[in-house]
Amino acid sequence: MRTALITGGASGLGKATAARLEADGVKVITLDIAAGADVVCDVTDVAGIQAVADGVGPIDVLVNSAGVVGPNAPLWEIPLESWRSTFEVNVHGTFNTCRAFIPAMRERGWGRVVNIASMAAKDGNPNMSPYSASKGAVIALTKSLGKELATSGVLANVIAPAVIETPMNATTSPEALARIAGLIPMGRVGRPEEVAELIAWLASDRVSFSTGAVYDISGGRATY
Ligand SMILES: NC(=O)c1ccc[n+]([C@@H]2O[C@H](COP(=O)([O-])OP(=O)(O)OC[C@H]3O[C@@H](n4cnc5c(N)ncnc54)[C@H](O)[C@@H]3O)[C@@H](O)[C@H]2O)c1
Repeated sequence: MRTALITGGASGLGKATAARLEADGVKVITLDIAAGADVVCDVTDVAGIQAVADGVGPIDVLVNSAGVVGPNAPLWEIPLESWRSTFEVNVHGTFNTCRAFIPAMRERGWGRVVNIASMAAKDGNPNMSPYSASKGAVIALTKSLGKELATSGVLANVIAPAVIETPMNATTSPEALARIAGLIPMGRVGRPEEVAELIAWLASDRVSFSTGAVYDISGGRATY
């Protein structure tokens, strides 16, 4: 039986992915700062994440779903601290978990890493420059990682969802949400289960010739 560790697994896309992978017969360990996760840990806590990796032992699948939206404002109004804290979770958090969990995958010659970026990384959502830029970094780090791991049996890919109906959007202003949803040709936001389906494929043996790749899931919004 394979084991998956899902950061941000207490909510939204991480939670839906946990249910989807369990349905596939995968043992799932959720990690989150929120109560209800199997492991309560902050992805920005370098020592804490390493301690989790040492404690749970080798895992086969790493899904990095922990993320924050960050501030909603034009760039020139954003305090440096908010810029930094967005990068701290979205970029450094992803880096920390990859660094802690990938060595054991390489040793065993099999692994799947699925990072979660956003359509904001490709388009640059206005008033979301920290989020957009941090997700651009997640795409770039996954491209590097995929090449580094290419002959190891470990595949690393990244998905770029458009707006999906999760608790993350509960704090986004209705105007911003309407504008973003209006960019989707299918005329609706996505459902967490639809994203979990793509992640489940990227976490399985069914994907074999993709690494360092970006998978859009956007109801037709993505144009490149
Ligand atoms: N929902 C969307 O529209 C959408 C679109 C594109 C990308 N994404 C990305 O998908 C991922 C999941 O988003 P979601 O919609 O499920 O959001 P969510 O808020 O429902 O879930 C995110 C989870 O991450 C956890 N988390 C936040 N900071 C953490 C930290 N420092 N350490 C550990 N856990 C932490 C939260 O507690 C929460 O449970 C995020 O990376 C998000 O940026 C979401």
